[in-house]
Amino acid sequence: MKLLILNGVNLNMTGKREPGVYGVQTLDEINEEIRKFCLARGAECEFFQSNLEGEICTAIQQTDADGIVLNAGAFTHYSYAIRDAIASVHTPVVEVHMSNVHAREEFRHHSVISEVCRGTVLGFGKNSYLLAVESFLL
Ligand code: DQA
Repeated sequence: MKLLILNGVNLNMTGKREPGVYGVQTLDEINEEIRKFCLARGAECEFFQSNLEGEICTAIQQTDADGIVLNAGAFTHYSYAIRDAIASVHTPVVEVHMSNVHAREEFRHHSVISEVCRGTVLGFGKNSYLLAVESFLL
């Protein structure tokens, strides 16, 4: 099982931005934990982050992974392009958010990608990623 851990806009700022919401660990540190978590379960993983919507679409289209763990960041709430990219491939996608978006501003309550994702994990900080990985291994 090979998984693509895909992060969208502003996730490169994790650890620096809004630490009360997203924690103090950097994305590299979180990715290292995900890598070890996967390794311990016999899964392979690769990582990609971009602030560019089209690059996220291309990553979804071109991956040879068996599944995608996707935190699209704010793209989640308005990117029909990413939604369509997910719908255009057979690779299952699990949507992830570190924060509980439903307990935050109204504009975060709606995801335009949820409908085309296998499921959503949200509100567990960096553990949201690990739970999403686990969902592929059940
Ligand atoms: C986020 C939630 C989004 O609303 C926000 O724009 C992000 C991060 C999360 O991980 O909680 O950038 O996806």
